Amino acid sequence: MAIEEGKDSMIPITVSRQAQSRLLPLRILQFFMLFLALGIGFSFLSMFMIRYFGVQNAIPPSQNGLQFCLEEPLGLNRWIKAPSNLMHKMSDKELLWRASFVPKVKKYPFKRVPKVAFMFLTRGDLPLVPLWERFLKGHEGLYSIYIHSLPTYQPSYPSTSIFHNRQIPSQVTEWGRMSLCDAERRLLANALLDISNERFVLVSESCIPLYNFSIIYHYLMKSRYSFLGAFDDPGPYGRGRYNENMAPEVNLSQWRKASQWFEVNRKLAVSIVEDTKYYPKFEEFCRPACYVDEHYFPTMLTIQSPGLLANRTITWVDWSRGGAHPATFGKSDVTEGFFKRVLEGRNCLYNNQPISVCFLFARKFSPSTLEPLLELAPKFLGF
Ligand SMILES: *[C@@H]1O[C@H](CO)[C@@H](O)[C@H](O)[C@H]1NC(C)=O
Ligand SMILES: *[C@@H]1O[C@H](CO)[C@@H](O)[C@H](O)[C@H]1NC(C)=O
Ligand SMILES: *[C@@H]1O[C@H](CO)[C@@H](O)[C@H](O)[C@H]1NC(C)=O
Repeated sequence: MAIEEGKDSMIPITVSRQAQSRLLPLRILQFFMLFLALGIGFSFLSMFMIRYFGVQNAIPPSQNGLQFCLEEPLGLNRWIKAPSNLMHKMSDKELLWRASFVPKVKKYPFKRVPKVAFMFLTRGDLPLVPLWERFLKGHEGLYSIYIHSLPTYQPSYPSTSIFHNRQIPSQVTEWGRMSLCDAERRLLANALLDISNERFVLVSESCIPLYNFSIIYHYLMKSRYSFLGAFDDPGPYGRGRYNENMAPEVNLSQWRKASQWFEVNRKLAVSIVEDTKYYPKFEEFCRPACYVDEHYFPTMLTIQSPGLLANRTITWVDWSRGGAHPATFGKSDVTEGFFKRVLEGRNCLYNNQPISVCFLFARKFSPSTLEPLLELAPKFLGF
């Protein structure tokens, strides 16, 4: 044997080549047969898997094992964790699409603590931040903050502030124009990316909370309705702004008006970001003197989900001074008597029952009111 092996190795190169070339077709055939066998084996295996497990997973087990070693296996957290950075590179179109995702299974397979999303629509600074910080203190995990400001605005909140890094990608807005509704949809869409957000409140830099956090949180969470002051105004500033070209999507009897400062639940927030039916009609046919931010959401939601609307607002403003704009309060306005006037003697419906807590927020407060507000808040606002 040993000799023969030795002989083999001494076969002249030319002969060896001849032998190899004769062997080659056989080798190819062997390989081919091996692959065929493997292929048939895999087909049977997948048929078996599909039949008995209903899985159509073509990844061979060895590759799975490799993935397991290299990266953390994907858990549910990937889908339920709030984005840690609010800045993203999605266009509005991409963002609205992503934000419209809704789970079909209604029961959450994890403990979901619903949050209130405070969406600040502002040009720049939020002068009343110290008041809001005091209001929110100790309630981490029950709220989130989103800020839409001028794209050129550079915020300067210290990294310890709850307002730090809460800006969303923003664009220039014009009062009374569709760009304002775009900003509100952008706020809603960004807030929808956090699956824990359940109630969405639009606030401005001149808004203040009127009760402590626990009261406001429970008031919103337990409400069957969303707080949009939708009403049918027969006058020139209501029905007078309706344009017949909006039919048949919107007809005159469905036309509604409301203040811009709304509160909606998650379902209505999704309706707003996913809308492609009413948006083009309002964009084209509701231009100044039709102020689209006063009509688009209330009209659309009244048509789609009338049973979810309280038809009243929770943001108080003072129109008693007359004119086109509500009153702005300065330092000397904020007194004990002022809070009594705003909070006392109210009556409205909450879940179809009479209640005296009607407004949860108030505006418009100038920056100079911060000092008296901080001073009077513990006694009159409860925080
Ligand atoms: C909030 O205010 C209510 C009523 O004033 C009070 O009963 C409650 O203890 C307050 N909650 C907190 C956390 O301060
Ligand atoms: C307006 O729309 C409603 C609901 O679709 C419909 O019942 C009503 O007849 C319409 N009115 C007019 C004037 O078209
Ligand atoms: C709000 O108004 C709509 C019609 O515009 C109505 O269907 C709904 O019942 C009203 N909501 C409440 C709480 O009354």
